[in-house]
This record gives sequence, C-alpha cells and structure tokens, in this order.
Amino acid sequence: MTRKKDVGMFVVTGATGGLGRATVEALLARGVPAERIAAVVRKPERAADLAARGVQLRQADYDRPETLAPAFADAERLLFVSSTGPDEARVAQHRAVVAAATEAGVGLLAYTSVLAADTSPLVLAEVHRITERVIAESGLPSVLLRNGWYTENHAAGLPRAVESGVLVGSAGKGRAAFAARADFAEAAATVLTGEDQAGKVYELTGDTAHSLADLAAEASAAAGRPVRYEDLTPERYTEFLGSFGLPDFAVELVVDADVRISEGALETVTGDLAELLGRPTTPPSATIAGILAAAA
Ligand SMILES: NC(=O)c1ccc[n+]([C@@H]2O[C@H](COP(=O)([O-])OP(=O)(O)OC[C@H]3O[C@@H](n4cnc5c(N)ncnc54)[C@H](OP(=O)(O)O)[C@@H]3O)[C@@H](O)[C@H]2O)c1
Repeated sequence: MTRKKDVGMFVVTGATGGLGRATVEALLARGVPAERIAAVVRKPERAADLAARGVQLRQADYDRPETLAPAFADAERLLFVSSTGPDEARVAQHRAVVAAATEAGVGLLAYTSVLAADTSPLVLAEVHRITERVIAESGLPSVLLRNGWYTENHAAGLPRAVESGVLVGSAGKGRAAFAARADFAEAAATVLTGEDQAGKVYELTGDTAHSLADLAAEASAAAGRPVRYEDLTPERYTEFLGSFGLPDFAVELVVDADVRISEGALETVTGDLAELLGRPTTPPSATIAGILAAAA
C-alpha cells in the first residue's frame, strides 16, 4: 500500500447524484483544478458536462467491488457518498467501498453519514453506524460528515403542494434544522481541501429549526397562494407515498424520518455547518423559492 504525502487527486463518488455533483462544483469553485478532480460514476454519459470541463470520469459501481480500487487509485482525498437502496445492500456496498479505499491507500476518506449517527433513532442511521464502525476498523485516516436533513427532502414536494394547497407529512409540530444540500456539498469541499481533518466528526445542521407548517408557509409566501400543512398518521402517509410508486423501503425511511422529526430527532442546531461555510446556512425560504421558481 502506498500513501502519497502531497495532495493528489480529489475523488468524489456519487458524482451524478445531487450531493456528489454539487461537491465537484464546490471544489471547482474553490479553485481546485479540474484535472485534479475525479468523479466516480455508474453512468459516464450522465456526467458528460463535467468531463467537458476537464474533470476525470471513473466508472465504478458499489455493487461491483472490483471496479472500486482502480477508481480510487491516487486519491489523496476521497469523498465517499453513502449509497441509496435497501439497507442490506447498502451495508455490503459500503463495506466494499471502505475495503477498496484501504486497498488504494487513500490519504483521507470523508464519509457522508447522518446527524448524531451514534445515537440517532432514525431507522436509516443504522447503516451509517455500521459504516462508521467499518471505517474506524479500517484504520484509514477519515473524517465524518454527519449530515442533517436536506431542505430539499421536503421542499421537493412543494410544487405539488402549491397546486393542491396542501403539504402532507407525519412530522406533527416537530422541527428540523434543515439546510440546503448545496451547503452540505460546500462543507464537504471545505473539509476535502482543508488540512488536519483526519479524526474529525462534524455534526452538520442548519442554523435554525423549522416545522413542516413553516415550510408550507414559506411556500405560500413564495407562490402567493395558500398552502397549509396537513399532518397524517404514519399509516396514511405511507399510503400517500406508496401511491406515487416509491419502493417500500424508501417509503419506510421517509415516514420514519417524519415521525422522528416529530420527536425532535433532527431539531438540534450545532453551528458546525455555518462554521465550515464561514457564513450562515441557507434558510429554507431561499431553497423553497428556488425550487418553486424552477418548477414554474
Ligand atoms: N441528509 C439527507 O437529508 C439525505 C437525504 C437523501 C439522501 N441522503 C444520503 O446522502 C447521499 C447523497 O445524497 P444525494 O442527495 O446526492 O442522493 P442522490 O442524488 O440519490 O445520489 C446518490 C448517488 O449515489 C450513487 N449510487 C447509488 N448506488 C450506487 C452504487 N451501487 N454504486 C455507485 N454509486 C451509487 C448514485 O448513482 P447514480 O447517479 O448512478 O444513481 C448517485 O450518484 C444519498 O445517497 C443518501 O445516502 C441524505
């Protein structure tokens, strides 16, 4: 295993996804030369625009472990974006990523975990707990980006809510410290380009906590139309989400997250994200206005 002393390549997995792509953009915006950035993707054709700007594309799939170590070769800094899909598959995928990163001898592995992964009651936190343990056991220099809740998770449904006048969920009066996905990406780029990051754990949240009724009110203000929040039982919310053809595991995670929000599991404001950004986090009102404008 070789480990370079100088900063070599910045390698970003999940680079055709929302967070990975935004992190590549944030690295470029911070002045990292495109030729020092490698985007790890399953479908290179979906990242042709990045390639056109000089970013290297490396094809790999968490489900095909043999593709991973070559994609991580010469990575001095690796952003490992957690996978999507059912938990059983994700644990195997994440183990494969960590094994490949170890084999490649990456200089620093940054993992996108979840807020308070060690104690979080969210169902989806279990995969992150296991992955954090696997990373620790690997002995790789690593940093944990424990991401809080994206505003987009709920705001994505707002154009429909504006049409119907109703935003539904199961979060009751619970509040979450939402932040824009681009904020988490910018923070990831800051950590990747920073020094002395190994061993750090960032608990990343927005600066203020909001209820889903608050998000509905923001949507109403931005659209100039009435939008109210209607709280559904978890059973009814499950039926509602199922009617859009979402897979069962995804519905379970989304409903569980709302129920946990109702209990305060994502309400904590830590200040870590604003500190990394060097500015306040993006308020939900701005993200919502952007989403509604794009949908108009
Ligand atoms: N904190 C939050 O609020 C929150 C919300 C949603 C998700 N997440 C987690 O954070 C991660 C990043 O969020 P996001 O918004 O960027 O999600 P996203 O847009 O769904 O992107 C997920 C990325 O993971 C890649 N991926 C999935 N399975 C893979 C596999 N087998 N091999 C290689 N790559 C694979 C996808 O590749 P393709 O483009 O080829 O599909 C995509 O690039 C998610 O994957 C999820 O674990 C967090």
